[in-house]
Amino acid sequence: MIQINEQAVDFNQLNQYIICNSKKFTEYIPNNVEPFIDLIVTSPPYWDMKQYGNVKQTGFQQTYEEYLDDIEQTFNSLYKLSKETATLYVNSDTLKRDGKIIRLPDDIARRLENVGWIHQDIIIWDKGKTLPWSRKGQMRNIFEYIYVFTKSKHYKYYIERIKTVDELKEWWIDYPERYNPEGKVPDNIWEHFIPTQGSWGTKKDFGDKEFKHACPFPPDMMARIIKLSSDEGDVVFDPYAGTGVLLATAQNLNRRFLGLDTNPDYKQIFEQVTKPLIEEKIQEINNYYEKQEKMKLLLSKTIYKLRILKFSKAMIKIFNKIFIQNSKNNSPPIIATIVIEEKMNCEEKNTKHKIGKANYYFVLRNSLQHVNGILLILKELSENAPFSKYGLITKINLITVEEAIDLLATQENNFNFNMYSNGIVNDSYGVVSFEKMINLIQNVEDELKTDEKNITPIFSNVEIKTSDYEEIPAKKYKKKNYQ
Ligand SMILES: C[S@@+](CC[C@H](N)C(=O)[O-])C[C@H]1O[C@@H](n2cnc3c(N)ncnc32)[C@H](O)[C@@H]1O
Repeated sequence: MIQINEQAVDFNQLNQYIICNSKKFTEYIPNNVEPFIDLIVTSPPYWDMKQYGNVKQTGFQQTYEEYLDDIEQTFNSLYKLSKETATLYVNSDTLKRDGKIIRLPDDIARRLENVGWIHQDIIIWDKGKTLPWSRKGQMRNIFEYIYVFTKSKHYKYYIERIKTVDELKEWWIDYPERYNPEGKVPDNIWEHFIPTQGSWGTKKDFGDKEFKHACPFPPDMMARIIKLSSDEGDVVFDPYAGTGVLLATAQNLNRRFLGLDTNPDYKQIFEQVTKPLIEEKIQEINNYYEKQEKMKLLLSKTIYKLRILKFSKAMIKIFNKIFIQNSKNNSPPIIATIVIEEKMNCEEKNTKHKIGKANYYFVLRNSLQHVNGILLILKELSENAPFSKYGLITKINLITVEEAIDLLATQENNFNFNMYSNGIVNDSYGVVSFEKMINLIQNVEDELKTDEKNITPIFSNVEIKTSDYEEIPAKKYKKKNYQ
């Protein structure tokens, strides 16, 4: 237990908002305190712009160099108090003085690098609106910067937790081999609109402690950062806490928090307004992540099935093209495909980038010659891009109509066979009987044209219907016209 400005701080418990100048914070920390900070997310006061209340603070009435010295000193001491795995997110923006831009985020970054922080990423935070709205020589401003730093190269970065299905374009269904089954890594432009005065309740709801602060963090953005860069029980810290949105969000996500601010009014807002608001809001945030997890699971199952089925369709398409180019009047030799999904063994499951295993039986029209040549072409195709990128362990077989009938007869009791026809592999035509399959295979030959796009029927134990995955978002692709 230590005393900071007559406030007792318990380093085992934390979860405290302390009125303290962040530059002076380390002066109160005994030398024997081990580095304890896991994650810092903060928005330092801007230089010479805002006076937050009547309390002495960083940035106000300081020269630019004094201000940067102040920031450097603070983040130097926080570097020492941070764990090796720690991450630091600094939100700031450029400003204009004497008719020219001052690149504050870069100047801060240089100072942070001076004391050891490693610059990892730049995120553009689209706030919807930000100050100043517009001025001569500049467009209407809607974004600020978030610069990401780490203490070492061994930092926490749980990207899978924040991968999303939100931004998937409709192409993922036709090109499952190009999409990550675990969802998309979010891009580096984050759209999180700032809570505006009144949007979180008014004086009526909170007495005289209305939610009043110029730049509170949005809780959903804080949740994203907290999940990405920390674990439950970790210490999440904000040396310029303001309304304390970060702190309240961290607590609701089972992290411990510590916040500093020079202005006691903000601590009151934190206690009386932010905390109850975030307690309400967290359900919405949790629901969002639960839904994403559900969707990601569905996406990975669907991409897996789509890849297995598309593999055979795409192989035949390319094979037919090669075949037709080389043998003028002959019809393509493959008249049907039987695709049997197999379970991977433990060793196979651990093979990097492999998500499934399937046996492909390409059925050849009868009395065909050059069987070995055809097999060679198919095997070679399967081992090279794009087929090698499907993440599948595959076995390619060529069989006659009689062998196909035998195969289906022996597997008839093991599986239901779905039929996919006319090149549609994302929506089963339905389960088909043994008799129907045999009939189709025996008669398909008559219907085949010498058309490289002609896709013969596929029979498979993999079942997929559009209704299985229609819940997964698939944004319509908007064509951009360049003029
Ligand atoms: C940009 S605001 C932070 C807003 C915060 N991110 C939120 O969600 O509300 C900067 C805050 O830093 C505080 N501040 C300014 N100088 C400080 C200092 N030297 N030590 C601690 N807090 C300071 C201000 O009172 C203000 O609340």
